[in-house]
Amino acid sequence: GLRGQHQPVRSAWAALVRRWGFLSCCCRLFDLDPDLLPLFQYNCKQFASPQECLSTPEFLDHIRKVMLVIDAAVSHLENLSCLEEYLCNLGKKHQAVGVKVESFSTVGESLLYMLEKCLGAAFSPDVREAWSKLYSAVVKAMQRGWET
Ligand code: HEM
Repeated sequence: GLRGQHQPVRSAWAALVRRWGFLSCCCRLFDLDPDLLPLFQYNCKQFASPQECLSTPEFLDHIRKVMLVIDAAVSHLENLSCLEEYLCNLGKKHQAVGVKVESFSTVGESLLYMLEKCLGAAFSPDVREAWSKLYSAVVKAMQRGWET
């Protein structure tokens, strides 16, 4: 389970917030799956390129929203079940805007990529494993939104 792993996850998160923006993660995201770009539409306007998307305030707001969710998960690591209902609803909202469950794994990959770039050798196999578990738990809870 997640027990006993909150320390590595917490310190990885602190280092990340200090030293790295989320932008590199998003560049990675669109590299891995360019089809995700059209899902981000604000005022019914499609972005012509990832660069255009990355420089839009609404998209940067979404990054902040993702960070808040991950941050909440990190702070409730011992007790993720209290976020379950919120995450299920969040999943439903994503289904409604056309996101596929599988795309969350791509987001996870870019997150791990960013952590690796940020932490270097400190991103040990243990830390990686703890992060994967945390993110999987979040995605699993969001996934319930597709089932119901
Ligand atoms: C809202 C797309 C992944 C958290 C939204 C919206 C879109 C969207 C279009 C509505 C507009 C907006 O608020 O900006 C996507 C896509 C994703 C993705 C295409 C990746 C495939 C995630 C992940 C999280 C997340 C991984 C958190 C772990 C949120 C939150 C909102 C949101 C908190 C606001 C919901 C609300 O208004 O109550 N997302 N999202 N998103 N997303 Fe995502």
